[in-house]
Amino acid sequence: MTADLGLTSPHDGPARVLAASECAIDIDDVVARYPRMDHPSIDHVTLKVRTGALLGLLGPNGAGKTTLLSLLCALMRPQSGAIRVQGMRFDDHPEAYKDLIGLVPQALALYPRLTGTENLAVFGQMSGLSGRQLRARMDFAIDFAGLNEMAQRRVETYSGGLRRRLNLATALLPDPPVLVLDEPTVGIDPQSRHAIHENLRQLSVEGKTIIYTSHYLDEIEQLCDDIAILDRGRLIAQGSLGALLARFTGNRIDLRLEPQDAHRAAGVLSGEPGVQSVTAAGSLVTLATDDPHRRLPAVLAALEAAQLRPVGLSVGPRDLEQAFLSLTGTELRDEP
Ligand SMILES: Nc1ncnc2c1ncn2[C@@H]1O[C@H](COP(=O)(O)OP(=O)(O)O)[C@@H](O)[C@H]1O
Ligand SMILES: [Mg+2]
Repeated sequence: MTADLGLTSPHDGPARVLAASECAIDIDDVVARYPRMDHPSIDHVTLKVRTGALLGLLGPNGAGKTTLLSLLCALMRPQSGAIRVQGMRFDDHPEAYKDLIGLVPQALALYPRLTGTENLAVFGQMSGLSGRQLRARMDFAIDFAGLNEMAQRRVETYSGGLRRRLNLATALLPDPPVLVLDEPTVGIDPQSRHAIHENLRQLSVEGKTIIYTSHYLDEIEQLCDDIAILDRGRLIAQGSLGALLARFTGNRIDLRLEPQDAHRAAGVLSGEPGVQSVTAAGSLVTLATDDPHRRLPAVLAALEAAQLRPVGLSVGPRDLEQAFLSLTGTELRDEP
C-alpha cells in the first residue's frame, strides 16, 4: 500500500542526504527482536534525524515506538544494524553516549514518598549534578514542566498528569543535546500540554534534537515539523509534515463505511469512470480520481445502487489522521 500512496519508502532514505554534522541521530537498518519472539519488533528500520529537528514518531499500539527508543537509548541491543548519536556508537563510548540522550520513559520512574523537588535532586545527583548547577537545572525543570508550588508536595499526592510532568522534568536535568519523549503527555490537561509544547519548541529552536512519540495525531500535527510513522516494526513513511500531507491532497475522495462494507465498496467503485485507483484500509475507502467534485455524484449513486451507505465523506486535502489511517489501516487507540 505504501508504494500505492507514493510515500517515501523507508529504503529510499530521506529526500536529501544529511551531512554527518547535520545528522544528530542515525539509525541504520536496525533489526531487534525480544527473546522468544518469532517476529522482530523493529524490522530493518532506517531513520536519520537532523540536528535541531522536532520529530514526531507515530504509530498504533505495538508498532515498536518504545522499542525503537529503547534501542536508541541503548537500553536494548539490536540484532543487526547500527545506531549513531552525534556520530558516536554506544559500543565505542558507552558513558559518553548515554550522556547525549535524555529519555522521558513511557513507564513512570519516580519515588512516591519523596516530594517533587526531592525526586529532582535525587535524579540530578544520579546524573552527576551538584551544588549551584543542580539548583539551576532543577529550577529550569520545575518551570519547564509547570510544577512550581506542587514541587514541595509528595509525589504520592500527585494526579497522573502531574506525575507525568515530573517524569518529564527529571529527564531535562542533565541538559542533553538529544531528548527522547515516549508518550509524555498522556493524562496531562490540555493547558499544561500546550505549555509543555511551547517549551519543547523553544528547546528545538535552541538546537536540541527531539523525538516525540505519541498516538495523539493532533498533538504531533501541531508540534512537529518532521514525522516518522511506524507500523508493525517497520518505518512506513518519513518526511516533513508538509510533504507527507501534500501527498494526500488533490484528486481524492475518501469514504468511510462500516468496516464490513469497505472491501465490497472498493470493488463496486473500481470500475467507475474517472476513478483511477481504489484502496480500502479498515473502514476507509480512498479513490484517486481525475476530478473528485465532478465524479462524486456518480460515486455516491453507484454505492446507493449496491445498497452501501457511506458514514463519512471528504474530498480534497486530508489531515494527518486520514493519512495515518490510509497508511496503516489502523485507528489509533489509547494506551491501556
Ligand atoms: N518486553 C517485551 N517482551 C516481548 N515483546 C515485547 C516486549 N515489549 C514489547 N514487545 C512487543 O514488541 C512490539 C512493539 O512494542 P512497543 O515497542 O512497546 O510498541 P509501542 O510503543 O509502539 O506501543 C509489540 O508487538 C510488543 O508486544
Ligand atoms: Mg510505547
